[in-house]
Amino acid sequence: MHKIVVFASGGGSNFQAIIEAIEQRLINAEIVCLIVDRPCNASERAKRNGIPYLLVPRSNNQQFNSDILTRLCQAADLIVLAGYLTVLDADFINSFPNKIINIHPSLLPAYGGPGMYGLKIHQAVIEAGDAVSGCTVHYVNEELDGGEIIAQEVVSVSMLDSAESLRDKIIEKEHALLIYTIKQLLEGDE
Ligand code: GRF
Repeated sequence: MHKIVVFASGGGSNFQAIIEAIEQRLINAEIVCLIVDRPCNASERAKRNGIPYLLVPRSNNQQFNSDILTRLCQAADLIVLAGYLTVLDADFINSFPNKIINIHPSLLPAYGGPGMYGLKIHQAVIEAGDAVSGCTVHYVNEELDGGEIIAQEVVSVSMLDSAESLRDKIIEKEHALLIYTIKQLLEGDE
């Protein structure tokens, strides 16, 4: 069975989508561990679902954190960043080439990079008057939100949308896109 490690910092709805996809046998995998950088709703979901989780707070000693995370992820087939807000160290990223994926709530390369997270992204899309937005799953490399794009889903933006309503429309698409991508990546590995 494939082993997945998930990283999260917030609500954990994408983490929950993975839990449910495994329960429904859409993905043949187990989540061996959730890593969080702060106490959050995602860690509560891990507790409720009997999934081991570990809090690795941000630290000035990046090398130390990087070593811990590298050891924890050693046996993982796939590492999924699902709303994880700490930028990972280059040593960690380079230890897992093509094994770390991230989900981002915009059509990258638009609205990615430093400072582009959460509602700020959707606010910027609305202010720019874009007709479409969406979500992207991409490989993680040293450039923030800059790794190779694996899959995207487009959502139309209406004149009535607020940043909040756009976030809600997109997050629904995120769950399906993330599950689809994980399935493709793991099955391609068999
Ligand atoms: C999602 O919008 C994801 O694209 C971004 O952070 C958010 C996490 O949401 N990277 P959740 O914690 O999975 O509900």
